[in-house]
Amino acid sequence: MPVAEVGDQGMEGRADRPAGTTGSSLAPGRERGTGDGDGGARGSAPLLSASGLCSGYGRVTVLRGVDLAVRAGEFVAVIGANGAGKTTLLRTISGILRPSAGRVVFEGRDLARIPAHRIPALGIAHVPEGRQVFPQLSVRENLLLGAYLRRDRAHREARMAFVLDLFPRLHERLGQAGGTLSGGEQQMLAVGRALMLEPRLLMLDEPSQGLAPRVVGELYGKLGEIHALGTTIVLIEQNLTAALRHAGRAYVLEHGRVVLEGPTAELEGNDEIRRAYLGV
Ligand SMILES: Nc1ncnc2c1ncn2[C@@H]1O[C@H](COP(=O)(O)OP(=O)(O)OP(=O)(O)O)[C@@H](O)[C@H]1O
Ligand SMILES: [Mg+2]
Repeated sequence: MPVAEVGDQGMEGRADRPAGTTGSSLAPGRERGTGDGDGGARGSAPLLSASGLCSGYGRVTVLRGVDLAVRAGEFVAVIGANGAGKTTLLRTISGILRPSAGRVVFEGRDLARIPAHRIPALGIAHVPEGRQVFPQLSVRENLLLGAYLRRDRAHREARMAFVLDLFPRLHERLGQAGGTLSGGEQQMLAVGRALMLEPRLLMLDEPSQGLAPRVVGELYGKLGEIHALGTTIVLIEQNLTAALRHAGRAYVLEHGRVVLEGPTAELEGNDEIRRAYLGV
C-alpha cells in the first residue's frame, strides 16, 4: 500500500476555512446523523454514495455491486470477515482503484471522473491499513505531509495546532522519528496526518489493528471527538465490538456484497452479523 493514500493530495487547498473546524455546514447534517434508525440517505442528499459498485484487481472481481450512502455528519462502520472486500471498498472510494461498474458519488461528483490525486482535495482523507507512517521523518514532518495542499503557512500551522491539541502525545514527540513511536502513537499520527487535510470525510481502515484494548479505547475516544466536531467518518473494522459501540450505523460486507445494514444498536444482537463477521 503506497503511503500516498494520505499524502497524495492533489493541489487544491481548502484554505478558506478557519483552523480547528471541519466546516460549519457539517453541523446540521450531524444533528440529523448517526443512529437515528432511518437507515441511510433518506431526506437530504448523502455526502457519499456508492451504487452498484464493482471493483477489484485486474480480472479478480472483489466488490460485486455495493450500495451504500453516508450523510454528512454520520459515523458509519463497514465490517466483515477477512477478505470481504473492506479495504478494496476504501481504495475504490479513494480512487486508488477504479470501479469496473457502478458509481461512487461524493457531494454530487462522480469520483470515477476525477483523477485519484485530486480526490483528497475534495475533502476525502484515507487512513490506510497499517498506518503507513514515514519512519524516518519526524512527527512534525509526517503531519506536514498531510497538509501539503495548503499553501498558506499560517493556516497550516493553525491546523497543526488543532491536531496537536487533539493529540497531546504527538505534541510531546514532535521531533521524534515516526518509526520510533509506539503502535498506538503511530495510529494517532496517521489519523492526525489525515486531519491536517481538514477533511469532510475521514475514512479509516482498521485503525485498532494490533493495538492493546486500552489504546483502542483511547483511539476511539479521539475518533468520537473528531466526529463530534462535525467530521463524517467511515470506519472499516475487524473489531466488531469497537465498531458497533462507536458508529451510528454499520454495513456488513460479505464476499464483496452488503448483506446487512442498519443502526448499530439494532445490529448488535444480530446472529447474521456474527456469521458474516466470523465468516462461518
Ligand atoms: N492487490 C491485489 N491483487 C489481487 N487480489 C487482491 C489484491 N488485494 C486484495 N485482493 C483480494 O481481494 C479480496 C478482498 O481483499 P480486501 O483487502 O479488500 O479484504 P478486507 O475485507 O480488507 O480483508 P482484511 O480484513 O483481511 O483486511 C481478497 O480475496 C484478496 O485476496
Ligand atoms: Mg483490509
